[in-house]
Amino acid sequence: MTTYNTQIGTDFQVAATYLSSGELVAIPTETVYGLAGNALDPAAVVRIFEVKNRPAFDPLIVHISEIGEVERYASDFPPEARKLAENVWPGPLTLLLPKRPLVPDLVTSGLPRVALRVPAHPLTRALLKKLPYPLAAPSANPFGYVSPTTARHVANQLAGKIPYILDGGPCQVGLESTIVGFENGRLTVYRLGGLSLETLEVLSGVQVHIQLNQSSNPAAPGMLKSHYAPQKKLHLTDLANLKNLLLPGQKTAVITFIHRTDLPQEVFQMPLSENGDMAEAAQNLFSVLRTLDAGDADVLFAELAPDHGLGRAINDRLRRAASRE
Ligand code: TXA
Ligand code: MG
Repeated sequence: MTTYNTQIGTDFQVAATYLSSGELVAIPTETVYGLAGNALDPAAVVRIFEVKNRPAFDPLIVHISEIGEVERYASDFPPEARKLAENVWPGPLTLLLPKRPLVPDLVTSGLPRVALRVPAHPLTRALLKKLPYPLAAPSANPFGYVSPTTARHVANQLAGKIPYILDGGPCQVGLESTIVGFENGRLTVYRLGGLSLETLEVLSGVQVHIQLNQSSNPAAPGMLKSHYAPQKKLHLTDLANLKNLLLPGQKTAVITFIHRTDLPQEVFQMPLSENGDMAEAAQNLFSVLRTLDAGDADVLFAELAPDHGLGRAINDRLRRAASRE
């Protein structure tokens, strides 16, 4: 494999040049950073799987510049799906739609649907507008690890493996997109994410069916039970009980949803949000997990967020981060 002297920069023209010569580039989105390549070039798509160390059965999201491009890649765009896209895009929603043959099977891992999304970050939108092809982009982390929400996070793990990281600052949403599709006419959510269920229900006007996969070979493998996981062991617990869980000689760090004043003196606390703001908590989650994973704590504890709005997606990620299965 080629070793690169990875550059971090803010020039989308540079990113475009690399991409158009078949290289991969990390791109900012409003959700998390993506590891992007030309979605219509099977060689670039193969490189994405290699660089991420991702199993070939886990398909990639195709990023397009505007809603008008959907029908180039999807053979059907039902009115319910269009309505959602019109309301949310550019934004944290991914639609699973029947794919056209133009989309390489590698991208969809042989599945009949293609995942499409218009991301909201201005630099990446400018990039997509310039390119004559869409970008396949999974989150820019090694398979199974926490998603990156800054250019630095990407560099920490992918430096040397790609030529360029397009730096768009910290991601605004901080959680991956919500993935939805229509099964037997029912609006189905396959991954909780940056668009809350409540918003989805209001926008669609229908009740949402939730089908988060956990077994092997799922419809959306980002839903494997253990995923988004730090190296260190993470325990989910009600922190009221924390005193009894501390082990002598072990440095303990705690992820709290809101700053708490009732924790034992000796633990290191990282609140997701000082005053319990849900959007801020979502924004900080992956960064906090990475900081604690790289820090000197031996063991990590976390409490769950309130189980509504983005709290559901935060809790989904915390549960997967804590799972060893
Ligand atoms: O917010 C996001 O969605 C970010 C940014 C970069 O756009 N991307 C992201 O990609 O989270 P990734 O690859 O880490 O997760 C995408 C999920 C995977 O769980 C994958 O299995 C599912 O989407 N997926 C992609 N294409 C699919 C398809 N054709 N059918 C079913 N699931 C699909
Ligand atoms: Mg991912």
